[in-house]
Amino acid sequence: MRDKYRYIGPVYDFLSNLYSGKNIHRCKTAMLDVETVKPGDRILFAGVGHGRDAIRAAELGADVTVVDLSETMLRKFGEAQESEAPHLTIRRIHNDIMKVDEFGQYDMVVANFFLNVFDETMMVRVLEHLIQLGNAEASVVVGDFCYPTGNVLSRTFKKLYWYMAVFIFWLFANNAFHKIYNYPEHMRRLGLEVTEKKHFKLLNMDCYWSILGRKQA
Ligand SMILES: C[S@@+](CC[C@H](N)C(=O)[O-])C[C@H]1O[C@@H](n2cnc3c(N)ncnc32)[C@H](O)[C@@H]1O
Repeated sequence: MRDKYRYIGPVYDFLSNLYSGKNIHRCKTAMLDVETVKPGDRILFAGVGHGRDAIRAAELGADVTVVDLSETMLRKFGEAQESEAPHLTIRRIHNDIMKVDEFGQYDMVVANFFLNVFDETMMVRVLEHLIQLGNAEASVVVGDFCYPTGNVLSRTFKKLYWYMAVFIFWLFANNAFHKIYNYPEHMRRLGLEVTEKKHFKLLNMDCYWSILGRKQA
């Protein structure tokens, strides 16, 4: 299987910090705190990448599983864990998320900057699959580029900012090239109750958001 993140994977976190001034990292960890993560909670990180968010969840006492299709990304995750939290045990799955069939097993499923790699039809299928991996009362966290709102100037900036990022990943990782998705709308349509949204700014504009959805039993 071809590793689409072979070239860009090693520098992924570096690029993301450069592009966002660490706001992407803040966004990815925004819903991971003592209120939302209880010791022993089973949490799945889909498309984990370098996975500092997954390490944070494990540090809070969660029983963490990470999934990624890219060997390069999982290697980078292993290196990050080795240097930051070698004492923790985190289960790694090297596979396509659509082949992970541990339905109903997770208290929380996290998709940080993951759903944006797919075209919209596939993104909805993947989101539906992630929801099914959660148990009856699971929460589903989506962190990503924020749907552009505000005045014309602000919307234009946010779109340009997104298209620059998606172009780079289309070029180097063959990701889908598409507009910014309205994740809360999709989450609601798939039956989640959206209980919280946290925004993160760049140049005083909301460029990223972390959305917390809950399954309704
Ligand atoms: C844009 S990166 C985001 C990485 C990480 N979540 C973050 O926020 O830094 C997308 C990740 O999803 C992984 N990925 C893409 N398609 C996948 C699939 N079908 N199943 C599992 N992982 C996948 C890629 O290998 C990559 O690590």
